[in-house]
Amino acid sequence: MLAVEKLEGSLRDKYADFVKNFEESFGSEPEYLIRVPGRVNLIGEHIDYCGYAVHPMAIDQDIIVGVRTLESGKLELKNLNNEKYAEFSMENLQEIDISTEKINWWSYFLCGLKGVYEDKMIENPNGIQVLVSGCIPPSAGLSSSSALVVGSSLVAVVSNKLEVDRSDLANLCARAERFIGTQGGGMDQAIELLAVAGQAKLIEFNPLVAHDTKLPDGSVFVIANSLQEKNKAASNEFNSRVVECRLAAKLIAKQLLKESDWKDVKKLRNVQVSSGKCLEELVNSVSTFLPKEVYTREDVLAELGITDEELRTDILTANTQELQTFKLQQRARHVLSESNRVYRFREVCHNKAGEEGLKELGELMTASHNSCRYDYECSADGLDRLVELSLKNGALGSRLTGAGWGGCTVSLVAESQVEKFLAALKAEYYAGVENVDSAIFVSKPSGGAMVWSL
Ligand code: GLA
Repeated sequence: MLAVEKLEGSLRDKYADFVKNFEESFGSEPEYLIRVPGRVNLIGEHIDYCGYAVHPMAIDQDIIVGVRTLESGKLELKNLNNEKYAEFSMENLQEIDISTEKINWWSYFLCGLKGVYEDKMIENPNGIQVLVSGCIPPSAGLSSSSALVVGSSLVAVVSNKLEVDRSDLANLCARAERFIGTQGGGMDQAIELLAVAGQAKLIEFNPLVAHDTKLPDGSVFVIANSLQEKNKAASNEFNSRVVECRLAAKLIAKQLLKESDWKDVKKLRNVQVSSGKCLEELVNSVSTFLPKEVYTREDVLAELGITDEELRTDILTANTQELQTFKLQQRARHVLSESNRVYRFREVCHNKAGEEGLKELGELMTASHNSCRYDYECSADGLDRLVELSLKNGALGSRLTGAGWGGCTVSLVAESQVEKFLAALKAEYYAGVENVDSAIFVSKPSGGAMVWSL
């Protein structure tokens, strides 16, 4: 169950300015403060929505949310970063269709609230005043959006005095974030709620289980922002990949399973489990199951024996209705091989100490980047350049992290090399950039979301 601790001692001092800001904004102190960290994914990209385990850790960069319950049925939201204010009536909240509204800073906040009210069947939620402030760079692949969803779900929980379990809430938040329209998996919400300070996590889905991974001594993870922003909800690239994975799963399933079983399959992991094949076996036969470089819409309709209408309603998302071509072989190869790398990464962390272990972890990360770049096509020029510069300047491995198409890289650097590495990247990628320490920084595994009462 979610524990609520008292905000006291050094924490009270740490958040004194935020509390003062809340008072200045709303006339009295907040009742609760909520902290939600961002996350960096060490390995396992674009595979959570295919059912496969991922390997992220929470980071120090976070958002802070202050909340006070109101007698009236109003939701008053203020963002300290941009000084913007928005007001909603709690009564109308359930009617807002977030996916068709223009995406705004508060859109993700509404997702978490709506998710909890719907799931817990709360018809007349309490009014609330909310102040949000954060230092997770937006659109950088460090999960600032999910932090808002998780933060607002916790606002709904505390302001309505609900009992929740962290894993259940993580699943709920993953569903709720899809109100935006992007069909993400559950990695971000899970790590933001289940992280434990000092540990990275192997996160498995269905059921959601987070296993601790102690990162090897001497390993340091450096996050570097390409400064190319990517808002994944504003384009259809993310959902195109989700759809391609669904189609790949169905086409492979049709060749491996009985008709009664393949019809409902949408995730590659389900095909793998139901067929009893191991990952290596499937990786090696991807081009046999999916021989074409590019599948047209007509190809997939014919292969699956479905109508265009069925494709639209059962497989495509709202923003991918018009896709005409699909790269199934390449996407499936990425997903299956990446899943293999995730398990190997954890095994090396636990069973292969020293230099040799670090070297292998680095190789797995760089292989992951190349798979994202060439097979999944979710990289960007800035990311490729950062990876290249990182490897040239002593990183043991380097890769894009998060959804990609912009955002950040994460590099594994031996502790003894970190200073030199940072100096080199600052000179070669960030020359002339202001606030360079918020663009490239070392990250240690932080703890998961916290709630404090005042
Ligand atoms: C986003 C999604 C996650 C995951 C990553 C890619 O962060 O929210 O669920 O799919 O992209 O690994």
